[in-house]
Amino acid sequence: MKKLNVLVMGELPTEGLLARLKEHATVEIVERESALSPDDMVRHLAGKHAIVSEPLDGISPSIMDQCPDLKHVSNRAVGFDNINLSEATARGILVTNTPGVLDNATADLAFALLLACARRICESDRYIRNGQWVGFQSDLMLGPDIYGKTCGIIGMGRIGKAFAKRAQAFGMKIIYSRVSERSAVDDELEESFGATRVSLDELCAQSDFISVHCPLSAATRKLIGEAELNLMKPSAILINTARGAIIDEDALVKHLSARKIWGAGLDVFADEPNVPKELFEMEHVVLTPHIGSACIDTRFRMAELAVEAVISSFSGTRPTHVVNPEAWDAFQKSILVREIKESMQQEATARNE
Ligand code: DGY
Repeated sequence: MKKLNVLVMGELPTEGLLARLKEHATVEIVERESALSPDDMVRHLAGKHAIVSEPLDGISPSIMDQCPDLKHVSNRAVGFDNINLSEATARGILVTNTPGVLDNATADLAFALLLACARRICESDRYIRNGQWVGFQSDLMLGPDIYGKTCGIIGMGRIGKAFAKRAQAFGMKIIYSRVSERSAVDDELEESFGATRVSLDELCAQSDFISVHCPLSAATRKLIGEAELNLMKPSAILINTARGAIIDEDALVKHLSARKIWGAGLDVFADEPNVPKELFEMEHVVLTPHIGSACIDTRFRMAELAVEAVISSFSGTRPTHVVNPEAWDAFQKSILVREIKESMQQEATARNE
């Protein structure tokens, strides 16, 4: 009998979910505040067939090579840039993620950052706490209006659309850019939000607020660089809740230092948890520590999807959110996976007897 052996990175949100996984697997939980070194990751992964990972947990080809029993990386996140996908596929390692359940939470945070920057909320809070407020002044903490302004959305997937709904409700004009060929999706976006598709350059030049909602990939790394920042209005506010590396961080810091754009709301950074120190001093920048999906129900649903994906794959049913469907065949044919599936079936039969 080959028992399924799972490594879970970070605690699961409920005992019930852990119990659910333990019905089918031996589980090791690694509680850590920062990323494990590759050596430590290999040590914990030894003999594990699946990992429930988070954006913090890099799964490199070298780790895959040193952990030949690893067959499924179930990422507890929608983004999967922490995993070398092509190398996982080449090794028949299944990769799954948790899309859909975090759209509203992430869009909420992006809009909260937009509001916080425009209405100078964090700065105002510090101002009062520092005892600086002496009384009402008509020019105190002035910021740009939101109603009637142009909101540029980069990437119109699920989260981009959820953000568009919020922008629409605030009376903003929506423009967007996306990489895919023009399709019925663009007509729908026009119909639902009155949104206009534009090029990235046009978006940068025309927007009062810009929010990034595309995944990080080779094509989107440093998508917003010096040139794109130069196109932005001096009054523009840039929001990023996607991935830090989509923006050239050095160029952004330079632009913000020189006040070439009004401000930025940043939840993600190129080399987390390292945040450029220059940003700490900037009142016109709002910083949050990668908490886009950090809502209680949302995080539960993400963990649930990730756990169910593992149980499902080793039981022989393709999980709903497979990122590399090309790996499914090889995964299923693996002798190890077949042995685990057999023993899961035997256990299920024994439980029902
Ligand atoms: C994701 O899901 O990719 C977020 O960044 C983490 O919740």
